Amino acid sequence: MADSSLRVPYLDLKAQYQSIKPEIEAAIARVLESSQFVLGSEVAGFEQAFAAYCGTAECIALNSGTSALHLALLAAGVAPSDEVITVPFTFVASVAAILYAGARPVLVDIDPDTFTMNPAAIEAAITPRTKAILPVHLYGHPADMDPILEVARRRGLVVIEDAAQAHGAKYKGRPAGSLGDIACFSFYPTKNLGAYGEGGAVTTSSAEHARKIRMLRDWGQDRKYHHLLRGYNYRMEGLQGAILRVKLRHLEQWTDARRAAASKYNRLLADCGVERPTEMPWARHVYHVYTLRTQDRDALQAALHAEGIQTAVHYALPVHLQPAYAGLGYSRGDLPQSEKAAEEVLSLPLYPEMTDTQIEKVAQALTSLAAAR
Ligand SMILES: Cc1ncc(COP(=O)(O)O)c(C=O)c1O
Repeated sequence: MADSSLRVPYLDLKAQYQSIKPEIEAAIARVLESSQFVLGSEVAGFEQAFAAYCGTAECIALNSGTSALHLALLAAGVAPSDEVITVPFTFVASVAAILYAGARPVLVDIDPDTFTMNPAAIEAAITPRTKAILPVHLYGHPADMDPILEVARRRGLVVIEDAAQAHGAKYKGRPAGSLGDIACFSFYPTKNLGAYGEGGAVTTSSAEHARKIRMLRDWGQDRKYHHLLRGYNYRMEGLQGAILRVKLRHLEQWTDARRAAASKYNRLLADCGVERPTEMPWARHVYHVYTLRTQDRDALQAALHAEGIQTAVHYALPVHLQPAYAGLGYSRGDLPQSEKAAEEVLSLPLYPEMTDTQIEKVAQALTSLAAAR
C-alpha cells in the first residue's frame, strides 16, 4: 500500500547534490584558488572528457545549449536566406537558433512513436535553399539518424544534432553527439548532465568546424584582440566546467538509474490505459523525461497533482503554433502528429535518486485513476 502522505516531486536536484557534495566542493575550491573563472583548465579538462564520452575528436564548451545551436549553424555555413529543416515538437530553442542565424526554419512532422523527426518527411521539404537538417533527440531518445544522414549525404546537406536532452543516448551503438556533422548539448541544471547554472557544448569530429566555433565563442578572436570573425561572448565559466567534470564521472550510473526507473514504470503501468514511451530496438533511451500519451491528459495531470505527484508537459504547444512564431507561416493542421502529441503527452517524475517507493506511489495513483475511469 503506497504512503498517501508521500509527495513525489518532478525532479530533486538537491538529492543529487547531496550525493556528490564533497567532490563538488573540492572542484569549486580548485576554481576559486586558480581564479580561472572563464574557460581555463577545468573547462579544457571537461571538453576533453566530454569529447571522449561522445566519441568525437572535439568538444567546445559554451554558455548554453542555445549558443551551441547558434554557433553550430554558423559553422555549418548557414546564412540569411538559407533554409534549415527541423521539427516543431521540441523546445523553442531548436527553431529560434535557426532564426538567430538569419535563416528560415522549415518544419517537418515527427514520428508518433519516438516523438522525433520523421525521416520520410524530409525529401519533400528540401529546396535549393536548404543548407542543413537539425533533428532533435527529444526526451533522450535518438532520432532515426541513418535515413536522415542518407538523404543529407545525397543532397549535400549538413546534419546538426540537437542533443540537448540526450547525453549518453545511443543510436545503433553510436553515441549521440557523434552521429551527425556537428552536435549541440545543453547543461541546463535539469538536464541529465546539468551544470549549476547555464552551460552548453558543441561536439564534432571536424577540426575546421571546431576551430571556427572556438573563435566564435570568444569574440571571433584567433589571437588576443585580433578579431578574425564577428563573434560572441558564449564562453563557459570555470565553475561550470569544474562541476560538469565531476558530474560526468557519475553520468553512466545516473543513466542506468533512470533506465531502471523507466523499466519499473513500464512494468507497473502496463494496464493503466496510457501509452508508455517506446524505445526502438536500435536506441539507448536515456529518459531525460518519461513521457506517457493519454487522451485525457489535463484531467490526469490534475488528479495526480491532487495526490501530491508533480508532473510536467513537454510541450503543450508545438513551436509553429506559438504566438511568437506565427510569422513562420504555419497553421493548425499543417503538422498533425506534432499537434496531436502536444495534446496527449504527460511527463512523470523521473530522476536517478528516485526511490522505488516513489515510483510505486506514482504507478499506484495511475492504476487507481484508471480503475475509476
Ligand atoms: C531540445 C532542446 N534544445 C535546445 C535547448 C536549449 O538549451 P539551453 O537552455 O541550455 O540554452 C534545450 C534546453 O533547454 C532543449 O531541450
